[in-house]
Amino acid sequence: MNEIVPFDISETRRSEERRADAVSALEDGSVVLMEDLPFAFTAAEEALYGESLGDGVQKNITLDPYLGKLSGVGDVSEESKALIEGMLRRYRETTQSWLQDILGPYAQNLDPRRTTYRPVEIAGRKKIGKVGDDKAYRFDDSLLHPDAFKRRPIKGNRIFRIFTNINPTGKPRTWKVGHGFEAFATRYLNRIRDPHLGEFAFLNMTRQTHWPRTHYDHIMLNLHDMGKQDATFQQDPAHVVFQFPAGATWFCFTDQALHAALEGAYCLEQTFELQVEHMAAPEKSPLKVLERMKGHALV
Ligand code: SIN
Ligand code: FE
Repeated sequence: MNEIVPFDISETRRSEERRADAVSALEDGSVVLMEDLPFAFTAAEEALYGESLGDGVQKNITLDPYLGKLSGVGDVSEESKALIEGMLRRYRETTQSWLQDILGPYAQNLDPRRTTYRPVEIAGRKKIGKVGDDKAYRFDDSLLHPDAFKRRPIKGNRIFRIFTNINPTGKPRTWKVGHGFEAFATRYLNRIRDPHLGEFAFLNMTRQTHWPRTHYDHIMLNLHDMGKQDATFQQDPAHVVFQFPAGATWFCFTDQALHAALEGAYCLEQTFELQVEHMAAPEKSPLKVLERMKGHALV
């Protein structure tokens, strides 16, 4: 079972031992929580507290260093776009500095990826997305899941995400967390088919992925989908619901810590990628766990 473990940044700044505790909680699949680590908007950015910024299709407004652009914004002025982009860059830099203070040298190997602004209320948001109703569950983050990327294969690396609840009216962001990764994978692994010969090359050639998938990505995507479709698993009473207060910041390896976002609006998130060899205990990674279970290499 994953837990939510509180830490205090003023304490980790001073104590190497507490920084090591935070790394170990993180790698165990827990969510590391700083109850009081807010990110403030500037006076100009206050204008960004409006739901009309989004395009109504994507869940989030995203600054993507790989594609080099902002996506998910609706019909807004160039001025607002620049404001959002500047704010997202500032959030990315702020999280990098926080993570130095909380995790120490470990943070140097966290490679920044996308930054997202999540203004839309989660409760009742399910209809967002371009796919048909039969696939809508895949985009429904109110169902418990590990993260896995369809178009951006992660090739065994870790997905690390940090979130800050910036709700202006003080509304908490409610998550459900639960189930150790290995127990979760055990439920489904035997039912996941092996990849077809040439499958990943085909997906890449037809631009369904930005670069080729690996067997690891194939398994993680299947685990993500199978868990979301399994009503018995979703209703397991052992899972824990937690409310992150406004002004709180929290982070976890979202490929390992099963999570569901149930309620809340206005959140910022920064994704980082971490190579397994840079972990303190690489054997705790989903890659190494799955390779042990399958008995062979997956990347
Ligand atoms: C998710 O990663 O599934 C959503 C988390 C959130 O937006 O709070
Ligand atoms: Fe997720």
